[in-house]
Amino acid sequence: MSKYIIKGDAKIDGEVDISGSKNSALPIIAACILNGGVNTLYNMPNIRDTNGMLEILSDLGCKVVKKKNKVIIDSSNASKMNINEKLMREMRSSVIVVGALLARFRKAIFSYPGGCEIGARPIDLHINGFRKLGINIDENTRYIVCKCDKIIPAEIHLDFPSVGATENLMLASVLSDGETILRNVAMEPEIEDLQNFLNRMGAKISGAGSNIIKIKGVKKLKEVSYNIMPDRIETGTFLCYTAGTGGKIELNNVRDEITLPVLVKLEETGCKIYREPNKIVLQAPKRLKAVDIQTLPYPGFPTDMQSVFLAMLVTAKGTSIVTENIFENRFKCVPELMRMGAKISISGSSAIVKGVRKITGTNLVATDLRGGAALIGAAMKAKGITTIDNCEYIERGYEKLEYKLKKLNIDFTKER
Ligand code: EPZ
Repeated sequence: MSKYIIKGDAKIDGEVDISGSKNSALPIIAACILNGGVNTLYNMPNIRDTNGMLEILSDLGCKVVKKKNKVIIDSSNASKMNINEKLMREMRSSVIVVGALLARFRKAIFSYPGGCEIGARPIDLHINGFRKLGINIDENTRYIVCKCDKIIPAEIHLDFPSVGATENLMLASVLSDGETILRNVAMEPEIEDLQNFLNRMGAKISGAGSNIIKIKGVKKLKEVSYNIMPDRIETGTFLCYTAGTGGKIELNNVRDEITLPVLVKLEETGCKIYREPNKIVLQAPKRLKAVDIQTLPYPGFPTDMQSVFLAMLVTAKGTSIVTENIFENRFKCVPELMRMGAKISISGSSAIVKGVRKITGTNLVATDLRGGAALIGAAMKAKGITTIDNCEYIERGYEKLEYKLKKLNIDFTKER
């Protein structure tokens, strides 16, 4: 595994172009299986997770051509229905390929994706929803075998507004011969991007962004080209990096309104924010004020921003309470931050962060994607040099990170 070496006492002052959204790109790549044709995707982030999903589609028989941030996926010769077990384990979000395989082939075979660094990540909501669509699920062997003669439109109420389950059930029901209604669904912007993509293909879906989605099944879907939405978590990450260093940043290629849950909390810390539909400018105060956050499904504060925001608060004035309501194990960066001198205690699903004046650089280890990103934010404002091992975790979700940080005058090198 490689490591990052970051010199601290930095103050960000510059501008960055935000990349395409990882969490929108992944279900849209999976959806390219549906039409058995050629799909052209623009603003595709070139990161480990999207490349992993493209590898899964190639393994299923799709022809994939990547040209920087443009990807052409031809699914006309896709024929396999079993998802590669090794690839599945490497990226559990590949479970959303199942819905697309079921819609096109009425069959899908995959191994249980298993948990990851932030939690058990069960797929019971996906499986229960598939059963309601008339899909027979055999979980008794090493693999999960899903098959049906046809998808039966249904009304499905999710116990929890799961992002992945919402996406999987949208994909599974788009080619049926009736209307499926999904209730208590996720309202994340990435769900709207998936609806827009599928409707561009000729699907008849409405309601994404609300808690009820209706999918009128169609017989066929056509070839499309599509521009993936900006990454709202990368947007929030760079805003928090800047706030933590008392600096100033201008972000382009963003969508301000979907970043609002984070912008509102950054203003509470004392940051000044100017925004237009595709641009955000943040000016941080010399020292941030402590604030409390709790993660919730969208439009609540995003769980993917929790670690990065927490790391920003370790040097704020006062005590902050950070409550994680979505995943059971998403404070793994806390022990690493404490090794830098942060004063944090965990009580149940909350981290109590007592702001200190300064933290000190040391040797750290990334434990997951967003926890690793949090350590970068801590390192750039710490005294002295910090190394971060296992930086491959971070490269799952952040494109051209080295280039972007150096452009912001951060003294950042990667040791291969
Ligand atoms: C998506 O994961 C995102 N990943 C995650 O981003 C994000 O943190 C999460 O949504 C919540 O916003 C992608 O979009 C690729 P969930 P997903 O199903 O779909 C429980 C990142 O850092 N649950 O909404 O897996 C689950 O255990 C990643 O970019 C069940 O109990 O999230 C969790 O506690 C990390 N049963 C909660 O729901 C199920 O069948 C939210 O999970 C499914 C989920």
